[in-house]
Amino acid sequence: MDEAQRRTLAEVTRLVSSQEGHVTRLKQVAAALQRLPRYTGVYFYELRGETLVLVAHAGRDTEHEHIPVGDGICGLSARTRDAVIVEDVKSDPRYLACNLETQSEIVVPIMSAGTYLAQIDIDSDHRAAFGAADRAFLEGVAALVRPLFPTA
Ligand code: SME
Repeated sequence: MDEAQRRTLAEVTRLVSSQEGHVTRLKQVAAALQRLPRYTGVYFYELRGETLVLVAHAGRDTEHEHIPVGDGICGLSARTRDAVIVEDVKSDPRYLACNLETQSEIVVPIMSAGTYLAQIDIDSDHRAAFGAADRAFLEGVAALVRPLFPTA
């Protein structure tokens, strides 16, 4: 994790503990993450039944506001209950395109006591933008934002 990511974790800690509504706090966290280099678009999806529902984002709008479990890179993470990193989305047939600029993507689960609650999805306009350090950083973010998602 680099210095900018460490600073962002501190900012996320502060944002999550404010008195704002949950969706407002998630939008603020998304905006904070989007200020990091290479983090072009930031999306929080909540798992409702068998569908991922977009609840907050920063960056470009997406037509994919509802994604069935199993569809796309987001649905793959929900099905496998694991993080997914795609270095080149254009050569991955599972990828659900939102725009022509996105080159790479990372999806990290937000889990609670073994239950898949939600996920953080980051798009980058740079090829192979995300690695193990981003995964570790986003797992830290996931732990911080977990209380903003319903557990049942
Ligand atoms: N690319 C995702 C769809 C969501 S957008 O990136 C915001 C996917 O393949 O699941």
